[in-house]
Amino acid sequence: MFVAIGLIGATVLAITAARTIPTNTDEKESVVVPETRPSASNGKAIYDEHCLKCHGETGSGEGEDAKKFKNEMKDFNDQTFMRKESPAKFFDKVKKGDKPMPAFEEDLTDQEMWDVVFYVWTFQNKDDLLAQGRQSYDEKCTKCHGASGDGKGPEAGDLEEEPTDFTDLKHMLSNTSNDMFEAITDGEKDEGMPAFKKKLSKGEIWNVVNHIWTFVYED
Ligand code: HEC
Ligand code: HEC
Repeated sequence: MFVAIGLIGATVLAITAARTIPTNTDEKESVVVPETRPSASNGKAIYDEHCLKCHGETGSGEGEDAKKFKNEMKDFNDQTFMRKESPAKFFDKVKKGDKPMPAFEEDLTDQEMWDVVFYVWTFQNKDDLLAQGRQSYDEKCTKCHGASGDGKGPEAGDLEEEPTDFTDLKHMLSNTSNDMFEAITDGEKDEGMPAFKKKLSKGEIWNVVNHIWTFVYED
């Protein structure tokens, strides 16, 4: 069953504040939570067939067909750009297009669009940095958020608020790296989320953020 993010309604939006509110009304209508976790490797096959000719092999917009509008293309490796985007925003762009970016709603299923969005998401990853992120997570976060990211760590029951479930697609698809970075850096004291700015460097926090995204999709 597909559930429109827009229909989750006021409760979720109120609890999670600005973090999960999609940026425009149309997007809320088009963004549907996938039934199964998106698969980046399925997404790669779709990307190679439909997207590579413009966005290019490396995702920097160097494709043959994009020569005419080179300066409108974003580089998916550019972290400053990617960190303020959400998977839901990308999904909306792929589904509905935005000239000269074509719409794919006729050619691809919703699940395929999520797969390709998460393949695009992986351009930010560097294997060694991801491994570091995983290490920090395993050392400092699992006791509350759980080893699999499901929010059910051994100390979760002692807290006022439930630790965020990073496998919850509804929540994560509208999340951004910037928002997670901020939550980890400064903490959310009233809710029981500690601040890590004195325990992890900025670089280490970014690596943890990238590791958290891996709870959302399959390789
Ligand atoms: C004909 C060339 C072309 C093809 C094919 C194409 N795109 Fe795009 N795409 C663009 C252009 C140009 C933009 C920037 C325009 C804009 O954002 O309004 C863009 C923007 C995007 C964005 C948003 C980034 C931003 O600029 O905010 C995403 C995500 C995206 N494309 C993904 C895809 C995926 C996934 C596919 C394949 C399923 C695909 N595109 C196929 C040309 C293309
Ligand atoms: C003592 C338990 C505890 C520890 C340890 C902990 N967290 Fe949390 N975390 C929480 C709780 C509880 C929340 C939920 C706060 C809320 O409801 O707003 C949370 C929220 C978050 C959020 C905000 C999620 C969102 O998108 O809304 C992020 C990101 C996060 N934690 C990451 C981490 C990372 C990374 C670590 C390890 C470096 C970590 N947490 C360690 C308890 C913890």
